Amino acid sequence: MIIFPYGFCQFAVPVQSKKPFYLWYTSRDMTALRYFTAGESHGKALLGFLEGIPAGLPISSADIDRDLKRRQGGYGRGGRMKIESDHADILSGVRWGKTIGSPLSLLIENRDFANWREGMSSDGIHEGSIPPVLKPRPGHADLAGSMKYSQHDIRNILERSSARETAMRVALGGVAKKFLSEFNVRIGSFVIRIGSRQTVSGSHDISEKKLMELFRKAEDSPVRCPDDTASEKMVRLIDQAAKEGNSLGGVFEVFAAGVPAGLGSHVQWDRKLDGRFAQALMSIQAIKGVEVGFGFGMGERFGAEVMDEICYQTRGSVPGARNKNVTYKTSFYRKTNYAGGIEGGMTNGMPVILRAAMKPIPKLRKPLRSVHIITKKSVEAAYERSDICAVPAAAVIGEAMVALTIASAFLEKFGGDSMDEVKSNYQSYMKYINNF
Ligand SMILES: Cc1cc2nc3c(=O)[nH]c(=O)nc-3n(C[C@H](O)[C@H](O)[C@H](O)COP(=O)(O)O)c2cc1C
Repeated sequence: MIIFPYGFCQFAVPVQSKKPFYLWYTSRDMTALRYFTAGESHGKALLGFLEGIPAGLPISSADIDRDLKRRQGGYGRGGRMKIESDHADILSGVRWGKTIGSPLSLLIENRDFANWREGMSSDGIHEGSIPPVLKPRPGHADLAGSMKYSQHDIRNILERSSARETAMRVALGGVAKKFLSEFNVRIGSFVIRIGSRQTVSGSHDISEKKLMELFRKAEDSPVRCPDDTASEKMVRLIDQAAKEGNSLGGVFEVFAAGVPAGLGSHVQWDRKLDGRFAQALMSIQAIKGVEVGFGFGMGERFGAEVMDEICYQTRGSVPGARNKNVTYKTSFYRKTNYAGGIEGGMTNGMPVILRAAMKPIPKLRKPLRSVHIITKKSVEAAYERSDICAVPAAAVIGEAMVALTIASAFLEKFGGDSMDEVKSNYQSYMKYINNF
């Protein structure tokens, strides 16, 4: 059998018959939601495309802008966030406040472009209007990207590798969150560590209600940490790093409550939802580790300590059927959630719990050694204004990536072209598993 790549799908052709007889789905086809971003950090705008949202979802820019604002906040951000005040313009896919089934395209203007009109112009007439960047920054895409794309102005790499791109991911994630909210799936996050300052977090044994409480508390903290004492310590540590020209990373937790059992699948490696979450979170700039549930802690315990024993209760409820506010619980449940709501690559009905570790911001006022890409002389790496700590913002980006991943898996399971169709599929499945 020969498999030919053919756009978004592949044809598998038996060698004897030479006839395409079978649509062979690739990992790209497995995702019911497709999305892309485009745009440079100091270019005119960021663009985002999202295909697969069913028709009939109520959505407005306000739904999206809320998260854009949350992404821009957090103690320890640099001057750029004071210039930008992000707003998502919906260019297509929505008419009179509701999606119409066609691809959504969003635009976020870069207000800072006003200072870069010539330096970032697409018109060749402006070539050379600003000096090239020639000193690669350690910890960035600068050197590897310049070599790979054969660029002798590092700006051609850093403009796209910058985390400014994540503003659009948050916007697209806002649409995914709105979609999931129709099924009472709620996504939130909080910061649990900045540098050496940590709050105690035991998400393996707390309820959805408690997770939501922690989330609300975190929203009032300058570092998005639900623990007041730890918040204060984190703020003081960021002040210390700022004074010393240094930077900090940390760890955040993203949770999803109200997720039905059975999203993802155990049958193929690229359908396993834990793997998909890991990629989604790991793709965020500066994220260097992802844990599912109790994660690395599992490796330090005996099996009996960290397996979530299975219990059963006869009462269950189907969301939307009787009371919209009732969160569905399958009749099977667990008293603990070390697995973080995922077993065998599938959701098990418990809250999804994920953690991600962010490295310290690599651009430092305290200069780092580098090498000039033309003269090959030892130099100090380039420094422009920079964040000192962006873990609170990264947590909001994490929510967006988790929302997009769950929405995609949700549509694979309950797929339909209209919200009515998806809701009907969802409700009949919920009724079925409630009686399983
Ligand atoms: C929200 C957010 C803000 C960031 N701000 C900065 C910054 O101001 N300066 C900087 O050097 N890196 C910043 N980073 C990290 C870099 O984008 C990232 O380290 C770099 O692109 C290299 O990618 P890698 O760390 O994944 O290898 C930020 C990352 C995120 C998620």
